[in-house]
Amino acid sequence: MQANVTSGALPLTIAIDGPAAGGKTTVGAMLAKRLGYLCLDTGIMYRAVTWQALNEGLAPEDEPAVTLLAESIEIDVKPASKDDGRAFDVLIDSEDHTWDIRLPEVNQNVSLVSSYLGVRRAMTLQQRKIAARGRIVMLGRDIGTVVLPDADLKIYLDASLEVRARRRFEEENQHGTTITYAEILTSLRRRDEIDSSRQHAPLKIAEDAVVINTDALTAAQVVDKIISLFPHPLSPIP
Ligand code: DC
Repeated sequence: MQANVTSGALPLTIAIDGPAAGGKTTVGAMLAKRLGYLCLDTGIMYRAVTWQALNEGLAPEDEPAVTLLAESIEIDVKPASKDDGRAFDVLIDSEDHTWDIRLPEVNQNVSLVSSYLGVRRAMTLQQRKIAARGRIVMLGRDIGTVVLPDADLKIYLDASLEVRARRRFEEENQHGTTITYAEILTSLRRRDEIDSSRQHAPLKIAEDAVVINTDALTAAQVVDKIISLFPHPLSPIP
C-alpha cells in the first residue's frame, strides 16, 4: 500500500485508525507532540455521547433520542488541568468528565451508540471542522476512510487481540481497577466485532493506508516508523 504524502511537504493531516487498545492514543499523542500538531482522539466524542445519554437516563437502544443528543452536545478537549494520569481534559457541556467517559458502562454501550448513522454524521461534521485548520493527528476507526478521505498520510495501527488485551490490562492495573485479563479480552473481541461489522463507517483499512503492526514495537518505535514515511524525515530525538 502507498502513503499519500505530498512530495516535499510535511503531511498536515494525519489519520490514524485501528482497533481498540491498539496504541493509537499513545502513538498519536507522541507524534503530535513531536510535530507541534493538535491530536484529536475521536473515540472520546463517541464516549462523551454515550456517557451523556446514560447520565440523562436515555436507553442506549433509543436511536432517535441518542441522535438528538449527539446533535446538540458540546464536546471540548483542553490541555490537562490535573496531574492524575490524564493526557487532556474532556469537557461535556463545559464540565470535566475526563474519567467518566472511561467507565465500564460506557465501554459496554459505546459501540452501539457509535453505530447510529445520525450520531456519526454529527460527530463527523465536528471532526472535519477541527481538521480544516490543519496540523492535526486524528485518531479513530473511520478517519482515513470517511472523515478525512484526503488526509495527507493514513496509518492503520494493528496488533493482535492478545497483545492489545495485555496492554489494556496493564493500564487498568496501574489505575487500580480489578478487571481481569479474560474480561478485557472478551470485551475487546466484542467491540472489534461490532466496530468492524456495523453498516455505517465500519473499521477497515483505507486503500492508501500504511499498515503498521505494533505487536513487537514500542510506541516510540511506531512514531519513528511513521515519521520515516515523511518525504523529509525529521531528525531522531537525541
Ligand atoms: O478508541 P476508543 O476505544 O476510545 O473508541 C470508543 C468507541 O468509539 C469504539 O468502540 C468505536 C467508536 N469510534 C468510532 O466508531 N469511530 C471513531 N472514529 C472513533 C471511535
